[in-house]
Amino acid sequence: MSLSPRVRSLLSSQPPHHTLAGELYRDPEVYRADLDRVWRRGWLFAGHGCEIPAAGDYFAMDVGADSILVVRSETGEVRAMHNLCRHRGSLLCDEPCGRVKKWVCPYHRWAYDLDGRLIHSPAMPESFDRSQYGLRTVQVREVEGLIFVSLAACPPDFTEAGEMFGALARPQGFRKAKIAKIVDYHVKANWKLVWENNRECFHCNANHPQYIKANFDHYNADDTSPQIRAEMETAVKRSEARWAATGLAVSHKQTGMTTFPDAERNIWFSANRTALVEGYLSETMDGRQVAPLMGDYRDADVGTLRMRALPNFWNHSSCDHAVSTRLLPAGPEATAVRVYWLVDEKAQEGRDYELSAVMPFWQLTSEQDWVICERQQRGINSSAYAPGPYSPYKEYNVDAFIRWYLKQMESK
Ligand code: FES
Ligand SMILES: [Fe+2]
Repeated sequence: MSLSPRVRSLLSSQPPHHTLAGELYRDPEVYRADLDRVWRRGWLFAGHGCEIPAAGDYFAMDVGADSILVVRSETGEVRAMHNLCRHRGSLLCDEPCGRVKKWVCPYHRWAYDLDGRLIHSPAMPESFDRSQYGLRTVQVREVEGLIFVSLAACPPDFTEAGEMFGALARPQGFRKAKIAKIVDYHVKANWKLVWENNRECFHCNANHPQYIKANFDHYNADDTSPQIRAEMETAVKRSEARWAATGLAVSHKQTGMTTFPDAERNIWFSANRTALVEGYLSETMDGRQVAPLMGDYRDADVGTLRMRALPNFWNHSSCDHAVSTRLLPAGPEATAVRVYWLVDEKAQEGRDYELSAVMPFWQLTSEQDWVICERQQRGINSSAYAPGPYSPYKEYNVDAFIRWYLKQMESK
């Protein structure tokens, strides 16, 4: 779909290093262009493999008007397909998740196997060729228990992202994890505002009293005092030798946030391990470990693993639990956000962990962020709004995200 002259002119009149024009955060035509040029082109985090452990287990996800089914096949691979019957176009499946032996359309009972092949098509002539009417498939990759899909016919190369996520996610043990809790949020803000907020910790001091106790992100290179720098160095040194020995080397040793994305080189994914503040073994309210160690970890002192992928995924993982966040566009001024808490698959609630200890750190931090995003959307909707400048010291990642977005929109 080509961009209309109006959308094209909104994009091209963007002043550098400033927030976007108000229309780019709320206009239905821009939203449709975002779906077309960002959401239906790249790789999207869909969910966790441990949500669908057995053949026929599935979940559905909506990307704009496209409903996608993600299912475990008879042979154990993950498949993804459009939730759309090839007979007369009915939605195949209404339930958000479950287990099926095959897909049976509720309208006239055409049936498809778990790979999407049409296996039953009542009342069609003998000559009807079922092989031409399989479900429309969607590209899918499962990397160490993380599932990504792409709605693009020719998606971008996934090799590098797969290797990076694979190497860093492996010791966390997502393949041997279970979902402790999922919480869905309907955030009344454009998806880009949710990302912009994620890409800076300038707001952390004022908005995240719990988060800043555990982390070094809110200290930026320009204003880090010698004392904070020394604390970070001590935290890194304390663990570095041990982490290196177990293949868990810290890859982000500085205060401040890791640089991401790289708009100029179109780097849409990144992952790193970083230290937590002295006294914090996990991103929990008091820093204590609150669940059994996950994956290959033999020691609680592993800092945090962080992963992120545009346009819809970030994850913070501690030694004992992992928290994934998935965004899906839900309208020009709405984002469907799902937050997942994972623990080791053998951990039992009540015996090995309590949700009341595992959840609050990221539940509070997430919900604080949604308030910020909704407030910003409301301000931007005002007739008096005009784009405002990003700080080169604290909002460099937000600026890079905007450049990345503009590049996606302008590319053919
Ligand atoms: S629309 Fe699905 S069987 Fe008719
Ligand atoms: Fe935040």
